[in-house]
Amino acid sequence: MRVAIYPGSFDPATLGHMDVIERACQVFDRLIVAVLVNRAKKPTFTTRERMDFLRRMVRDLPNVEVTSFDGLLADYARQQGAQVIVKGLRGVSDFEYELQMALGNRILNPSVETVFLMSSDKYICLSSSMVKEIAYHGGDISGFVSPQIIPDVMARFAQNAGKNVKQRG
Ligand code: PNS
Repeated sequence: MRVAIYPGSFDPATLGHMDVIERACQVFDRLIVAVLVNRAKKPTFTTRERMDFLRRMVRDLPNVEVTSFDGLLADYARQQGAQVIVKGLRGVSDFEYELQMALGNRILNPSVETVFLMSSDKYICLSSSMVKEIAYHGGDISGFVSPQIIPDVMARFAQNAGKNVKQRG
């Protein structure tokens, strides 16, 4: 059984993330979407919220499960019995960072292989931080996130209006 982990901050998950999930779950028998608890980055959405958003998005994909992890991805992959780490590549700007991570993870856990999947060209310029900026200004995020989570994402920014919004992630 080929088990893959798709890790990320997912703060919040976008249609680009969903595109990678849909591709990966066709290639692997079991896909674990693993949300980084991410204490250092102070995410906009709690771990529980980010997992809940993803669970709503993957409800119709039976071989996908959503978990969270803290610490090193290489250790979590070992613990989950995963042979593969899946990462999405949007373009060359992602590559250098992803190469570093893949090589680091290979040293930490030589039995795990990183596989890159290209998201659809529609999502090449899409990021969670772009979604947050649009939501912060009350814009229409329906082209960027799944319909199941739009009201909750918008509600967070209505609630936060006037406060600072994280720009990266
Ligand atoms: O969605 P992101 O923020 O680009 O995801 C980054 C993530 C979660 C994949 C990365 O930060 C990660 O794996 N963090 C766990 C710590 C770790 O294992 N670092 C890599 C050392 S080589």
